[in-house]
Amino acid sequence: MNQNLKKLFETETKKVDEWLGKLLPPESAEPVSIHKSMRYSMFAGGKRLRPVLCLLAHEICGGEGDKAYPAACALEMMHTFSLIHDDLPCMDDDDFRRGKPTNHKVFGEAIAVLAGDALCIHAYGILGSYVGLPIVKEISSALGTAGMIGGQVADIESEGTADVDAKTLEFIHIHKTEKLITTSLRTGAIIAGADEAKLAAITKYGQGIGLAFQIVDDVLDLTSDTATLGKDVGSDLENNKATYPRLYGIDKSRAEAKRLVNEAKDALALFGEKGAMLRELADFIVERVN
Ligand code: IPE
Ligand code: IPE
Ligand code: MG
Ligand code: MG
Ligand code: MG
Repeated sequence: MNQNLKKLFETETKKVDEWLGKLLPPESAEPVSIHKSMRYSMFAGGKRLRPVLCLLAHEICGGEGDKAYPAACALEMMHTFSLIHDDLPCMDDDDFRRGKPTNHKVFGEAIAVLAGDALCIHAYGILGSYVGLPIVKEISSALGTAGMIGGQVADIESEGTADVDAKTLEFIHIHKTEKLITTSLRTGAIIAGADEAKLAAITKYGQGIGLAFQIVDDVLDLTSDTATLGKDVGSDLENNKATYPRLYGIDKSRAEAKRLVNEAKDALALFGEKGAMLRELADFIVERVN
């Protein structure tokens, strides 16, 4: 990762974590177990990609001050909820996440389910208090049955099917992963009051990096190790998942991710030099090791 981008992630992660610390219920609040469980996964060491995307889009669309932080935190809560549930035995049945044992391994399945539910509900409360209805609608459509949940359903229902076709595979990846990534960017842009042209450019960028992100995630499941990745590897093979490498092989999958990322960078033309950091971030999506 380029030094400027690395610095930006460090600075913003620190700020987002401070906001999260205040926005989440304290561990000492009753019932203590659920609040411990929520905070365990929230502070286990995620990359904070979605908040950073929201904050960068806010900035390049002319947004000022700290206005986008509550929404950035809500997006990270939604994402973490999706990960806690994704790891459950009834879903991908994984043991490691963000370099630590998965939530259900520490707190049990019932509390893990409830912690995911609670993070999602809490996130909507934050959007209601700090942000407003257009963003609530934006995020709920990206996360619901026409978005992330729909993608997770198709992912689960495709497990073990002999030949998943290219269209179904693309549907799964767009819905389970790209939609939330694009919405993170759009949320920042909308809060900044972006006009139609800027919003369209940001959306196109998100669609490119969002799909590329999941393709690279599939590749890393085959080529990385748990220590580097912070989560189980080989999980997709074990679960007979529909993945890009399974359909196209590793090299073609990487090439497709690179093509999508280049397309995403081109979409930023109207931002000129202001788009430099998002262009760097697009490169990081294909180069990343975790
Ligand atoms: C993991 O997302 C889930 C996918 C959509 C592939 P990240 O790789 O962004 O996970 P964290 O937030 O850094 O843990
Ligand atoms: C999950 O995709 C995307 C989510 C909506 C959580 P994966 O199942 O491939 O994500 P990882 O590899 O477990 O992070
Ligand atoms: Mg999954
Ligand atoms: Mg998984
Ligand atoms: Mg994966």
